[in-house]
Amino acid sequence: MEFLRHLVLLFHLVGFAILFGAWAVELVNGHRGVTRLMNWGLAIAAVAGLILAAPWGIEYELNYVKIGVKLVILLVIGALLGIGAGRQRKGGKVPPAVFWSIGVLTLANAAIAVLWR
Ligand code: HEM
Repeated sequence: MEFLRHLVLLFHLVGFAILFGAWAVELVNGHRGVTRLMNWGLAIAAVAGLILAAPWGIEYELNYVKIGVKLVILLVIGALLGIGAGRQRKGGKVPPAVFWSIGVLTLANAAIAVLWR
């Protein structure tokens, strides 16, 4: 059971890596847009995160305030990805505030996960 939980945690981290990695690529290549890979990363992190939010395979209490905050941030990132994709579809550029918020909020969620005990 514990091994299975760690496996789901690994997928959760892969989702984070894909989302943040895809964002970093856009930052460095100068396009500063949103890509399908970001949606995939978010979806993987969300599904694995929700599975981890259930208390199985652990002997400690989960911090549901922390998990709730992460869920809200994830929904905001999802909304920003939608807004960015909409702008791109109309031939425009993703507003810098939207682009930067996606990266900062993703990093914030990882920081909350690791630093909030
Ligand atoms: C962009 C979104 C997210 C990022 C970047 C992220 C990042 C992380 C990271 C880096 C960890 C590992 C922390 C550690 O083991 O010390 C983690 C664990 C975890 N995350 Fe997320 N997460 C995100 C979204 C979510 C969501 C939406 C949920 C649930 C609704 C969630 C629930 C959890 C849980 C339950 C754990 C494991 C806690 C434990 O078993 O001790 N995460 N997350």
